[in-house]
Amino acid sequence: MILPLLFLFLNLSFLFYSSIARAPANHLSKHADYIDSIHGNQGRRLYSDNFQMSEKEYIAMLEKLAQGYMSNSDLEKAMKEFNGRCGNISRIYSIGKSVLGVPLWAIEISDKPGESEAEPAFKFIGNVHGDEPVGRELLLLLANWLCDNYMKDPLATLIVKDVHLHILPSMNPDGYSLRRRGNANNIDLNRDFPDQFFPMNDDMDLRQPETKAIMNWLEGVHFTASASLHGGALVANYPWDGTEDRKKNYYGCPDDNTFRFLASLYSKSHYNMSLSNEFPGGITNGAAWYPIYGGMQDWNYIHSGCFELTLEISDNKWPNASELPTLWEYNRMSMLNLVAGLVKTGLHGRIISSENGRPLPASLAIKGINYTIAAGKKFADYHRLLAPKENYEVIATMQGYRSKIACVMLGEGAVTVDFVLDPETTHEGSQLLEDSGCYFESKTTLQMIDFLPDPQLEVFLLTFSVLGFLLFLVKWRAKLVHPNQKQTPVPKRAVV
Ligand SMILES: *[C@@H]1O[C@H](CO)[C@@H](O)[C@H](O)[C@H]1NC(C)=O
Ligand SMILES: *[C@@H]1O[C@H](CO)[C@@H](O)[C@H](O)[C@H]1NC(C)=O
Ligand SMILES: [Zn+2]
Repeated sequence: MILPLLFLFLNLSFLFYSSIARAPANHLSKHADYIDSIHGNQGRRLYSDNFQMSEKEYIAMLEKLAQGYMSNSDLEKAMKEFNGRCGNISRIYSIGKSVLGVPLWAIEISDKPGESEAEPAFKFIGNVHGDEPVGRELLLLLANWLCDNYMKDPLATLIVKDVHLHILPSMNPDGYSLRRRGNANNIDLNRDFPDQFFPMNDDMDLRQPETKAIMNWLEGVHFTASASLHGGALVANYPWDGTEDRKKNYYGCPDDNTFRFLASLYSKSHYNMSLSNEFPGGITNGAAWYPIYGGMQDWNYIHSGCFELTLEISDNKWPNASELPTLWEYNRMSMLNLVAGLVKTGLHGRIISSENGRPLPASLAIKGINYTIAAGKKFADYHRLLAPKENYEVIATMQGYRSKIACVMLGEGAVTVDFVLDPETTHEGSQLLEDSGCYFESKTTLQMIDFLPDPQLEVFLLTFSVLGFLLFLVKWRAKLVHPNQKQTPVPKRAVV
C-alpha cells in the first residue's frame, strides 16, 4: 500500500529537485576553479572569490600546500611498498605514460589479482586535474585500509573476494608536478574524450597520451562501474555531463534512476555530502550543474558499459595536507559502499547455452531502459546495476539463440538470475513476448482491484498517481511469481 504513496513522494521530490537544480544559482562562483582563469584554459571559466591573487602568488601558495603530499616519485614508491606488503591481494601495473613519460601506475586489488573471474570490476581514478590532489592521497589510504582489514572487516573482505578493484591514483602526474589543472600540454583531460554530441576530440592523433591510456585500459578490462575523484565542491555528479543544445539543463541518461541511486549511495555514506544546501541530497546531474563536453564520465557509460560517477570530494581543491586524514574518514564509508554496491545491489548472473552449458557473451537489456550491457567474454557473467525496489523485465539476447525474458522484483539486495538460452532452429522472432512470463501490463485495473484488501483506498490513490498504481500491480504480480525474494543476504540463484 505504501508503494503508490512513495511514488507520489518521489514525483514531488523530483519536481522540487529539478526546479532547484535548474535555477540560475550563483554556486559556480564557489567552485573555486580559478586556475582555469589564470591559465587561460579553453572551455568554461569559473571565477572564485579569490581572483585578486596573482599567478605567482598562487603557485607559491600551492608549493607550500604541497608539503605533506606525495610527489610523483613518492607515489610510485608508496604503490610499490603497498604491493610488497600486500602482494597476496594486489598487483601493480602501468596503463601507459604521461606526456613527460611518467608511468600511469595502477593497483589491482583482488584475492586473485590479474586473473579473470566471474566478478564485477570497479575502477577509481584520482588526480584527473593536476591541481586536485586529494583523490590520489585517499586512494592510497583506501588500498592500505583494504589490505589491513581483509579477513577482519566484512566490507573489506567482500571487496577483496568478490570485486576486482582497480585504482589509478594519478591520471595526470604532469599536471600535479606543474601544479595545474591541465596536463603537460595544458589540456584539460576531462574535456579530451570523444563527445556524443559534438565532433570534438575525434582525431586519435590529437588525443593526449593520458586519455589514450584510459581508453585502451577500458578495452582490456570490462569495468561495471567507476568513479573519478575531483576537488572544488562537495557533490556526487552523474551523467549526462553535456546537453545537445549546450544549455544548462537537467539531462538524464537512460539509466537516470540507477545513477541517482549510485550517486546517493556515495553522498549518504559520506560524513556530510548529503547535507549540502547547494545540491539536494548531495548529488547532481552533470548538465544541470554546468554542461561539459569531451568528459570522461559520459564516454565511460556510452562506450564501455561502465557506470561512472564524477565525485567532488572537497570544497577546497588543495587543502593543507594535515586535513587528509579527516578527508579520508569523511569519504571512507562512501568509497567502500560504492564498490561493495557492485555486489550487494543490482542484478547478476551468467548466460549459458542449453546445448552444452557453454558461456554465451550475450547482451542484456531492460525493458524501458534504452541501454544494453554485455556479459563477460570468458565466463558470460553479467552485472547489471539498477535502482533497487523496482520491477524489471530483463531480456537476454544472443545471435543464433532465442532471447529470453525474466521478470525480476528487485528488493534492497542483489538478485541473481542465470539465463539458459536455446539455439534458434526456426525464425520466430515475434513469438518472443508470448513465450515470456511477464504480463505486467496485460492485466486490467479492474481485475487487479479484486485482489486488493481495500479497493476504495486504491482507487483514491489512483487519482494521485496512475504510475504508482501500476507499480503496485507489478509488485503484486511479481510477489505471486517470486514469493519472498526480498533481502536475502545470499540471493537465491534463479535460472531462466
Ligand atoms: C561538511 O563538513 C566540513 C567540515 O566540517 C565543512 O567545512 C563543510 O562546510 C560541510 N559541508 C556541508 C555540506 O555540510
Ligand atoms: C536509444 O539510444 C540510441 C543511442 O544509444 C539512439 O540512437 C536511439 O534513438 C535510442 N532509442 C530510443 C527509442 O530512444
Ligand atoms: Zn576536477
